[in-house]
Amino acid sequence: MYAQLQQRGMDRPPVNVSTLRQMKADKQPIACLTAYDASFAWLVDQAGTDLVLVGDSLGMVVQGHDTTVPVTVDDMIYHTQLVSRGLSRAFLVADMPFMSYTSPQQALENSVRLMQEGAAMMVKLEGGSSQIRIVEYLALHDIPVCAHLGLKPQSVHKIGGFKVQGRDATQARQMAADAKALQDAGADIVLLECVPSEVGKQVTESLDVPVIGIGAGPEVDGQILVLYDILGITQGRMPRFVHNYMNETGDISGAIAAYVEAVKARTYPAPEHCFS
Ligand code: KIV
Repeated sequence: MYAQLQQRGMDRPPVNVSTLRQMKADKQPIACLTAYDASFAWLVDQAGTDLVLVGDSLGMVVQGHDTTVPVTVDDMIYHTQLVSRGLSRAFLVADMPFMSYTSPQQALENSVRLMQEGAAMMVKLEGGSSQIRIVEYLALHDIPVCAHLGLKPQSVHKIGGFKVQGRDATQARQMAADAKALQDAGADIVLLECVPSEVGKQVTESLDVPVIGIGAGPEVDGQILVLYDILGITQGRMPRFVHNYMNETGDISGAIAAYVEAVKARTYPAPEHCFS
């Protein structure tokens, strides 16, 4: 019993929720990346990435849409299946796409599909206090949850663009309160996107669960970037927090390894990647 999980490389035990919590307690940076297929997932895993997210960013970087809004649950399941086959150590998180968690029951049904059909170990959903009921319901059913705060790309048409969030004090206080409420509702990880470094620091200090940042400054428990951004193959203008590791390494495995090392050494993010 449980042999499969235990045998998956005893020299590199699989990462789980407890590993991630322990890394926070030990102040060991958590290196995270997105992946969308088995080959890249394997490279990302071999480089020592702790957490791999099948992000609905696949709608933009794989499918060529302008936003993540068109991505469906079936798309997410398909790509999560591919990624799961490439991983042996990293913890696998899958995004719940736009409108796939409008009620507790719908959220439960779709997260069960992502876990049973896609082999996800955790689901990620975007939202603040409005998602507390959903997170509570998922936690009640032992579904591990990552709550995504700050810039929420699924709300791009409502907020009017991909913009830094939490710059004014009221918004920052609300975000910190939402993060705490989501943790108390059962969220196992909080992800903060595109917020001033000070907000990233305050939220991280106030929570027991790991906080993963993307454009949230250096003082969070872990960093995540979109894989295609660090490889320099995403089209268009890059956000400030992106660093292209292909420029300095020239090969894919080297670029992924350089990113993981930079996160572990806390040399990424540098001041030029951060918001104030
Ligand atoms: O969809 C995604 O890839 C994400 C990351 C940007 C964190 O949510």
